[in-house]
Amino acid sequence: MNNQIIYIAGGIFLLNGVLKKYAKDYIKDFLKSRAEDQDQQLDLLVDLLITCFVTILSCSYYILTQSNREVPQQQQPQPKIDESKILESIMKKRRSITPKDYNDQLIDDQDIHHILECANTAPTHGKNEPWRFIVYKRENLNAFFTFVKDWYKQNSQKAFNSDEEREKAIKQIDNKFQEISKASHIILLCMKRYANEKSVMPEWEEIAAVASSVQNIYLQTAAKGFGGYWSSMTFARHARDSKEMRQFLNLDHDEDRVFGSFVIGKVDDLSKFTRIPGDYKKKVEFR
Ligand SMILES: Cc1cc2nc3c(=O)[nH]c(=O)nc-3n(C[C@H](O)[C@H](O)[C@H](O)COP(=O)(O)O)c2cc1C
Repeated sequence: MNNQIIYIAGGIFLLNGVLKKYAKDYIKDFLKSRAEDQDQQLDLLVDLLITCFVTILSCSYYILTQSNREVPQQQQPQPKIDESKILESIMKKRRSITPKDYNDQLIDDQDIHHILECANTAPTHGKNEPWRFIVYKRENLNAFFTFVKDWYKQNSQKAFNSDEEREKAIKQIDNKFQEISKASHIILLCMKRYANEKSVMPEWEEIAAVASSVQNIYLQTAAKGFGGYWSSMTFARHARDSKEMRQFLNLDHDEDRVFGSFVIGKVDDLSKFTRIPGDYKKKVEFR
């Protein structure tokens, strides 16, 4: 902007000099030829000067406004993100990591919400979305453990054939719960068998949909650098599959199911857990 003003002023100054040096006599002759007396010549000169002034003003205005116009920024070429490679790397990073490898830190509830929001995008026949998740934060886990232990106290005849078997199982449950207490959250993995009564699918399809949602949980957990694993809770399977458990979790249909839990916690370094799966080519046939 400042440069433009200097150029315009310089231009006027130069024009003035040139006019004085070379055009003075020409202007005089021009005025004489067009006007009869000095008064008329003066009028004509003033007209000429005003015309020149207005022209210079217009040109200056044009130059100044043009120079102020925003020059569109050149678009930086965005590096192309290879989503397929990113997904592959998360899939390969995904591992089942049990509480013995968690540190004591807690995961933000917001992260758990995000993980479950992603779980909710799983494929589901008929858009039935049969998955249901009940989340226990570490501070509240005891309520769940107490329910399970009480269940075994009240139903030991149903579950076990002998006192010895019962003692062994209760001990195992205690040990497991102690281990799981290191988790930041546990997410109970449930299925509503008739989530959409207008579109009833075979049971296996609804189980598969829930399993797909659990895979999403696994992947987002890995992407966030947390550790987690699907625990079938086989050690407490009698309680897990009981009517009382369904009632406790507000699952109102007898065919609703609990598929254990996703146990989750923070780890210091997820990258140290690796597993090389068997050769996929041996499991694939192209026809
Ligand atoms: C349906 C299902 C149930 C599982 N239940 C358990 C379990 O009860 N305890 C356990 O330690 N791991 C369980 N896992 C995790 C597997 O043990 C784990 O996927 C397997 O060891 C392969 O390891 P990776 O997941 O790290 O690749 C389960 C996995 C699936 C798919």
